[in-house]
Amino acid sequence: MTKRIFSGVQPSGTPTIGNYIGAMKQFTELQNDFDAYYCVVNEHAITVAQDPAELRKNTRSLAALYIALGVDPEKATIFIQSQVPAHAQAAWMVQCLTPLGELERMTQFKDKSAKQGSVSAGLLTYPPLMVADIILYQTDLVPVGDDQKQHLELTRNFVERFNNRFTGKKEEGILTMPEFYAPKEGGRIMSLQDPLKKMSKSDENQKGFVSLLDDPKVIMKKIKSAVTDSSGEISYDKENKPGVSNLLTIYSSMSGRSIDDIVNEYADAGYGKFKQDLADVVISVLEPMQARYDKLMESSELDDILADGAKRANEVASETLAKMEKAIGFR
Ligand code: TYM
Repeated sequence: MTKRIFSGVQPSGTPTIGNYIGAMKQFTELQNDFDAYYCVVNEHAITVAQDPAELRKNTRSLAALYIALGVDPEKATIFIQSQVPAHAQAAWMVQCLTPLGELERMTQFKDKSAKQGSVSAGLLTYPPLMVADIILYQTDLVPVGDDQKQHLELTRNFVERFNNRFTGKKEEGILTMPEFYAPKEGGRIMSLQDPLKKMSKSDENQKGFVSLLDDPKVIMKKIKSAVTDSSGEISYDKENKPGVSNLLTIYSSMSGRSIDDIVNEYADAGYGKFKQDLADVVISVLEPMQARYDKLMESSELDDILADGAKRANEVASETLAKMEKAIGFR
């Protein structure tokens, strides 16, 4: 049987080149070899406050971006999480079978809750919803960035526990054991303004990230003002030269060239020339994608694709949900 892959992105703003390099680029590469499900996880987005009109817009926009980046709706199933009720239903079961301590230990919860005075219960129970997303599709592989590794481990623990408890078998149970899949380089793209901080679409400093829908002029400006160091030498050394190393990683992922190759090319060049060329590389990937995106957003084709995606996703998800309900004693 063809192996399954599942991944999701939150419609909590326009994705950045960090989201692209860490996860979305792999969506298009893997769709040829896997039965792929790509979800717009709008239920995850509401764990923090969202403006309804913005959320609606960002949800549709993210689905269009998946396709504009090269996800082929003929090969992969693209859908919106809230249109498949099994996600919320399974998430409840996952919550009831997950010890509270495991959720309180999640670093993303600790980071996000430390930044806010009052947090929603959903921020704490966010990982069980992610577990539900993954298990419902009997997923073999989950392409995500490094920051999702802990959530994947939680999912793997859950699958083992569930299968053990309800089928007595660790390996071959009701639920498939998923694997984490991140790119070798680029699983954690850093902020352009603070290379010790992860690039994030919710960063208040707009100069810290390049969004997939940024205008070419803005991309050039942001990359030119990226923080580097005073040595003037282009080499890869994450510890001592985090800014330059981050730019090299972005260059390599966006161009498909190896870091060594790029370092060699710029051995005698200054940061100015290097940044200019990097911006050109990023623009050469994003500009044609943006043109496809604009067309899609205007068409009703996108709505048809999402309706079809929801139908296909519902079929697969409800099958697993029924198995879980039977195991637990609901049926
Ligand atoms: P989200 O929306 O924060 O990010 C989407 C994807 O982008 C990756 N990513 C990065 N990769 C490299 N460098 C960065 N700076 C960077 N920032 C983000 C993330 O690792 C992610 O792969 N919880 C998930 C969404 C989710 C999901 C799922 C993913 C919900 N259910 C089921 C996989 C399977 C999230 O918040 O991603």
